Amino acid sequence: VILSQDELKKIAAYKAVEFVESGMVVGLGTGSTAKHAVDRIADLLQQGKLKDVIGIPTSKQTHQQASSLGIPLSDLESHPILDLAIDGADEVDPDLNLVKGRGGSLLREKMIEGAAKKFVVIVDESKWVPHVGASGAMPVEVVPFCSKFTQDSLGKIFEYAGCVAKLRTLCGEEGGEPFVTDNGNYIVNLFFKSDIGDLGAASDAIHRLPGVIEHGMFIGMATAVIVAGELGVTVKTK
Ligand code: A5P
Repeated sequence: VILSQDELKKIAAYKAVEFVESGMVVGLGTGSTAKHAVDRIADLLQQGKLKDVIGIPTSKQTHQQASSLGIPLSDLESHPILDLAIDGADEVDPDLNLVKGRGGSLLREKMIEGAAKKFVVIVDESKWVPHVGASGAMPVEVVPFCSKFTQDSLGKIFEYAGCVAKLRTLCGEEGGEPFVTDNGNYIVNLFFKSDIGDLGAASDAIHRLPGVIEHGMFIGMATAVIVAGELGVTVKTK
């Protein structure tokens, strides 16, 4: 049997929900993989197999999904420590570093998942990469004010890696209307032609730029990564 990518996402999500226990405060991720985890948590609550779970959603979209399914929700201010967070990722490397935010929710995800005692990442095997940043966009959330200046400055920081910095637009075309995050900001996508080197140094360099709010590299944050592939599910830990 050849499973579809969506079936693999669901397998990883269901496996992660096995870590949810009654009474837990759980960070609810965003995207097509995390969506399955939220559905599953709602099912188990409805069946009475889980009780008193409180969800902390990482986006307006997940808030909407979880509240429509009847999951009790709260926020980081009322629950500053989460027992567990479950979310997808765009890239995962062997050190369990991640790229996230191609769905645009990286800031809330990083705030909430950073406050979790355990952060379980759920992916299908297509997300597995040798080095994060090597394939596709690395999103950076920036303030709208003079965003072209910030975009150009980000490109210059990573000139050594052949970086092309592009404003994310709604239509995906250059010059189109900017995509706006849940926090009212823009996203600059960074594309690298070669290795960006030390991730911690890259992260610091991005954070030093005043127009930047947050970037999509999640370094050393994941406790475990559940990878679903054609040959089965593997749980990777450090
Ligand atoms: C949302 O901003 C992202 O961080 C998602 O977690 C990530 O893009 C993975 O999404 P999918 O599960 O839809 O691939």
